[in-house]
Amino acid sequence: MNEHTPIYTAPEEQVAWMGTDPIPAKAYYDPEWFELERRAIFMRTWLEVGHVCELPEPGTWIRRELEFAQASILIVRGKDGQIRAFYNACTHRGTQLVEEESGKGTNFLCPYHFWNFGDDGRLVAAPDFNRFALTKEDCKIPKVSVDTCAGLIFVNLDPAPKQTLREFLGDFADRLETLPVARATTFHEYCYDIDANWKITYDNFQENYHLRHVHGRTGIATVHADNLYGYPTGYTFHGKHRTQTIWSNPEPQIKPMQGYNFGLAAKIGMEQGIIGGPEDRTYFAVFPSLFIIGTPIQHFSHKVYPISATRSRGVFRVYWIGEGDTATKRYAREYALAGIRDIHTEDVNIINRAQKGLLSGAIKNVHFMSMEGLCRHLYQQVVAEVEAYRNESQPAGERA
Ligand code: FES
Ligand SMILES: [Fe+2]
Repeated sequence: MNEHTPIYTAPEEQVAWMGTDPIPAKAYYDPEWFELERRAIFMRTWLEVGHVCELPEPGTWIRRELEFAQASILIVRGKDGQIRAFYNACTHRGTQLVEEESGKGTNFLCPYHFWNFGDDGRLVAAPDFNRFALTKEDCKIPKVSVDTCAGLIFVNLDPAPKQTLREFLGDFADRLETLPVARATTFHEYCYDIDANWKITYDNFQENYHLRHVHGRTGIATVHADNLYGYPTGYTFHGKHRTQTIWSNPEPQIKPMQGYNFGLAAKIGMEQGIIGGPEDRTYFAVFPSLFIIGTPIQHFSHKVYPISATRSRGVFRVYWIGEGDTATKRYAREYALAGIRDIHTEDVNIINRAQKGLLSGAIKNVHFMSMEGLCRHLYQQVVAEVEAYRNESQPAGERA
């Protein structure tokens, strides 16, 4: 047995250690709690923001907006091939350097007074610069820590991150490297903004309890008489991160185009030895709000970025290896994304309703049953991070 193969005991036994306490509903809408999460987690945790296939050659760059930090970030592959990240802000008077989402070029010219920065954030040239009491060395754009794993680009807004990306990912790092995403050359993407807390949004995708009720219309092939709710067959916990093992439906109701699409993905998976591999059925939940499905049959990721206590942005990506070099392949890829979007439309509606119902404050607690254990685990990790932050920020004498 591979060392990563989950042990198939009843999932209830795997989540019992977390207890069964109700969860304070405030954590899903209260601006003060969100501010703690923002400082304790999002401002100092490695966050996935893209894929190396977006930076295919030296001189390519992408821009990412992180609203929770009011930050615009440039991620650049320099002439030397290195990936660097810095704030999209001129060191003269702050003007954003680029408005485009991506581009190519080895310099960033500020449109205001034409300060010109290199692909490493250094000031290269500035008109009439000798009238400033500055050296060019003083004018480097502040850097953002950046690293990659499995082709995924992560940034950390902490000026001095306490962990490297690999330390943060722990044993997930090597496991993610075995997935198709590590070799992806392209992807299809779907983004959405939603009036809901980031945890309510993300939790929807950590539990299968709702599949049967919410996804009847899209005929999602995940429920069966053997497993009425499509529950996973196992959970594992890895520090802040977690996995579930996706149950295999013995009689999936697959539409013809889905079958074609799955067949294409399965062919790649077979060729690369991924199908039947240890992660073929693994759903990786990377703290705080990324998940990626290990199966090459439908290899997609979903990231939820907070915007405020009650607003979030989600990004779905379906990853592909090789070009969509025939019309049928391209159609199959579009179809895969359209299928996810179709299902997600049902999710968005119900997530919005969940959020609205909490806003009055009348509901004091929410509840997670055993098969919603991954949601409970996320909440507990969030509380642990907030507690650690509070302890660090309080003078020693005042600590509880
Ligand atoms: S603000 Fe960028 S050159 Fe003046
Ligand atoms: Fe759903």
